Amino acid sequence: MLSKEITPRAIVEYLDQYVIGQEEAKRTLAVAVYAHYRKLSTLGQRSEAIAKSNVLIIGSSGTGKTLACETLSRFLAVPFVTADATSLAQTRYVSDEIEAILQRLVDRAGGDLRQASRGIVFIDEIDKLKTSSTGESRATSGESVQHALLKIMEGAPVKLGADRFIDTTNILFICGGAFVGLDKIMSRTHSFGFIATSETDNKSILDRLNDRVKPTDLFEFGLIPEFTGRLPVVARFGDLSREMLARIMSVPKNAIYHQFREVFRAEGVELVVAPPVFEQIAEIAIEYKTGGRSLRGIFEELMTPILYVVPDHPQICRVEIGSLFEAPRYFKRNPENGET
Ligand SMILES: Nc1ncnc2c1ncn2[C@@H]1O[C@H](COP(=O)(O)OP(=O)(O)OP(=O)(O)O)[C@@H](O)[C@H]1O
Ligand SMILES: [Mg+2]
Repeated sequence: MLSKEITPRAIVEYLDQYVIGQEEAKRTLAVAVYAHYRKLSTLGQRSEAIAKSNVLIIGSSGTGKTLACETLSRFLAVPFVTADATSLAQTRYVSDEIEAILQRLVDRAGGDLRQASRGIVFIDEIDKLKTSSTGESRATSGESVQHALLKIMEGAPVKLGADRFIDTTNILFICGGAFVGLDKIMSRTHSFGFIATSETDNKSILDRLNDRVKPTDLFEFGLIPEFTGRLPVVARFGDLSREMLARIMSVPKNAIYHQFREVFRAEGVELVVAPPVFEQIAEIAIEYKTGGRSLRGIFEELMTPILYVVPDHPQICRVEIGSLFEAPRYFKRNPENGET
């Protein structure tokens, strides 16, 4: 299932083609996934000997968590499903909902139970399951969802329909969440007893300490100890800088810029967007505070009026956008590349 050439480094190189930045997190994910599948392939049937190393991904919204997991599963060619922890907390029948997630995994594997039982389940918004002292309005408390999840993360037979079972022992669980407020907890617990000698010194050491999330931090945040105990690997996705946001639009293989260039090419038109435009869009995206999520919308808004005009003017051969504050420049096919 895992061919010889797949190494953590190869996994990271593949991720690099789609996920901008997040170097540390990509490496952590790659090593965890590699170790997991290595154990599966070497131990063969003796799966009971495998200690699971499920992964916890921490990072703000739109920083590439889901993207990284999806890209990973594509590379490994294993069945992959995403689920949302909030919907688990909204139902009164948590076990039904978990069953449905695993059923989707089996569907992804084309009905092959064996394949599915080695797949990846990504459970997003896990931070929303925190135990809270304030009034619970949800159907099931976050804590009981955590209990239900830790059973399957550990490995348990789960009934699917009438007489089929799936064993979750070899399924890799990746949990993700934004964990708003965790930084505060960490800076409190981690810098304890530390005396800064200078302003800059203080920052760099704090930064390094902050990179490590301790189980006790997660416990203080509101995850029960048994649950954090089943997530030994923690990968942190940092907030995206303006420069990273700009690159997201133009660098990845399937970047939105490339997609639109294809669309225009089909019309016989060359689209050229100058680098400052990506930076200007990144600037707006930062204000929206949804990470890379808002980039597509802003970019599409920029393209819409142009795509509206182009099909009616077959003489246009090239469109250049130099800045968000200037009108796009249209170039005619011939005789001498005159502008309109
Ligand atoms: N690091 C990144 N590299 C490339 N694209 C990114 C990156 N981060 C975000 N994006 C873009 O933003 C979109 C949303 O990212 P993604 O779905 O991975 O967010 P997320 O971290 O899972 O957020 P949430 O917590 O809201 O689920 C992606 O489809 C992608 O286009
Ligand atoms: Mg996500």
